[in-house]
Amino acid sequence: MKILGIESSCDETAASVVEDGRRLLSFVVQTQIDIHKQYGGVVPEVAARSHIEVINPVINQALSDADCTWNDIDAIAVTYAPGLIGSLLVGTLAARTLAIIHNKPLYPIHHVEAHVYANFIIEKSENEANSTVGRHLQTELVGASGPSPESDVKPFRANGSRNGDLELPNEQPGFPMLALIVSGGHTQLMLFRDHGDYELLGQTQDDAVGEAFDKVAKILGLPYPGGPSIAKAASHGDPQKYQLPKSRLQNPYDFSFSGLKTALLRAVQHETGHDYTFPSHQLSALLDDVMRNDFAASFQHIAVETLVDKAEKAFNDYSPASVVIAGGVAANQELRRQLSNRLPIAIKYAPPQLCTDNAAMIATLGYFMAQKIDPSDPYDFEVIPSLSMTKTAWANV
Ligand code: KG4
Ligand code: ZN
Repeated sequence: MKILGIESSCDETAASVVEDGRRLLSFVVQTQIDIHKQYGGVVPEVAARSHIEVINPVINQALSDADCTWNDIDAIAVTYAPGLIGSLLVGTLAARTLAIIHNKPLYPIHHVEAHVYANFIIEKSENEANSTVGRHLQTELVGASGPSPESDVKPFRANGSRNGDLELPNEQPGFPMLALIVSGGHTQLMLFRDHGDYELLGQTQDDAVGEAFDKVAKILGLPYPGGPSIAKAASHGDPQKYQLPKSRLQNPYDFSFSGLKTALLRAVQHETGHDYTFPSHQLSALLDDVMRNDFAASFQHIAVETLVDKAEKAFNDYSPASVVIAGGVAANQELRRQLSNRLPIAIKYAPPQLCTDNAAMIATLGYFMAQKIDPSDPYDFEVIPSLSMTKTAWANV
């Protein structure tokens, strides 16, 4: 069964074809990072407009990389929640239209749940011709959508690597499965008993861990997106240089990162000799590279250790058959290192390209959903910008 996945919930426009919820046939990701970099974060209106420009060529590219015509596609899966409303509307409108025109079943995908399903992709296409997925799409996209002032000054960029470069796990995770979900908007520990059957063990009470990485990067004057910038700076720094606190919460599986971010701000103020009356956005100019790297390393160390502490406790309490990490922060090498050191089972990590936003995870979850629930009506299909993953219809089947 071949599923076309479509993702446009934030600042990546993506489409992929995945077969039987395990075999990656194509992987196209058109990132807007270069566009939003100048603003230091995602600008929702700009994101929606950029999705409109590239959605059709991205989908066409995914079909042609997979060597598929519409006849070969069995269903469409699209992100409908959560995310930026304008961005979600672009992907869902494209998916609904295509489902109607080509008479395909349509499945609504919860973006955060889909991140977990990146771990179920274990095979890639055998077809050599398809191994060019994720290539620079500039020529095709400009050609297909017509040159616009936007595309002239800010070249399109695909951040996926070549399919052949993806190092995939060799088997799918077993149930019960403990999932540590760590993205820009979510930080959750979930216990999956089966597909669509899961329990929220704990979640952040304030900032998501990716959000903390992004905010701390701003304090330190490191470029957007903050996670990879912090990871890079941290690799040159001393993680023990600054002692930062870990939060304690009533539910041992809950998280809190806003105190850590404030503690880091206070440490930077202390180090530079300024109190809170000094504008915090001017602090970074007073840091030298050694301080910046040490702050990044100290923050990353504690943020990651906090995640691993909770995951280890949940592992000991629930004895899952497998552990997976999901979401953009799952690309972090220090998280992978600490988790592997602390947990007594071998963890098969998804390649970093599948951890950040993409449509392969959407198509993969779509496959498992198609085994259990009826498709949605493309004429009556709403987007939901804010929705807990425990509230999806499929979770209640
Ligand atoms: O899952 P994702 O691509 O988008 C959301 O659904 O939120 O996650 C984006 C988040 C951002 O906060 C980004 O800074 C963080 O993931 N991130 C990382 C790394 N790569 C991306 N954080 C730490 N280390 C990384 N290598
Ligand atoms: Zn995401």
